[in-house]
Amino acid sequence: MPKIKIAPSILSADLSKVNQEIKEVEKYSDLIHVDIMDGIFVPPTTVDAKFVKAIKARVPLDVHLMVHEPADSYLKGFIDAGAYSITIHEEACKDPARQINFIKKNRIKTAISIKPKTSLDKIKKYLDIVDMVLIMTVEPGWAGQKFIEEAMPKVRELRRLKPKLDIEVDGGINPYTAGIAFESGANVFVAGTSIFGKKDRAAAVKEILKSLK
Ligand code: DX5
Ligand code: ZN
Repeated sequence: MPKIKIAPSILSADLSKVNQEIKEVEKYSDLIHVDIMDGIFVPPTTVDAKFVKAIKARVPLDVHLMVHEPADSYLKGFIDAGAYSITIHEEACKDPARQINFIKKNRIKTAISIKPKTSLDKIKKYLDIVDMVLIMTVEPGWAGQKFIEEAMPKVRELRRLKPKLDIEVDGGINPYTAGIAFESGANVFVAGTSIFGKKDRAAAVKEILKSLK
């Protein structure tokens, strides 16, 4: 099983002081998860590449694009902004291999994500070319939703197929649900509300870590 990684999602942070918010968690985190929403693939919109460029974090930025058909120039914006990894959605792209190959060509990590109702079969052909798979555990678009446990069989099957692959879960992750996802085979844990919704963010991250033993 690959290394356990915690990725606080700044979607639930106070973006007017995002660098300060990140400072509170980065010591205990492996990645900072940045959600990009376009108002098309998902109804809300969030921040852009310019915002990402202004983020100061000592840990790598895990950029999750909830974006319809991202063009090369759009992807390049996030690469230039300092993304460590870029995740695209299978459902958002006509031919996800195009975006995956463009990201890889730029020598950063690449991942593909599926929504709770999308079958794992849809992405099996990409498993050998991505660095990570994100199994969504809520419908993408909003923080603070309930963890969908029905996504766990996909995590289990994926772990069986790919013992060394990074498997990320995102949505409704707290110490309890992180434990369920961990048991199923996930090793990268995104958490927004359960970290930035707490006063003591460092303690919240440590709580999640404790449940992964
Ligand atoms: C939802 C985003 C998540 C979100 C998770 O579409 O992809 O990253 O921040 O928030 P919580 O942890 O509150 O479910
Ligand atoms: Zn996300």
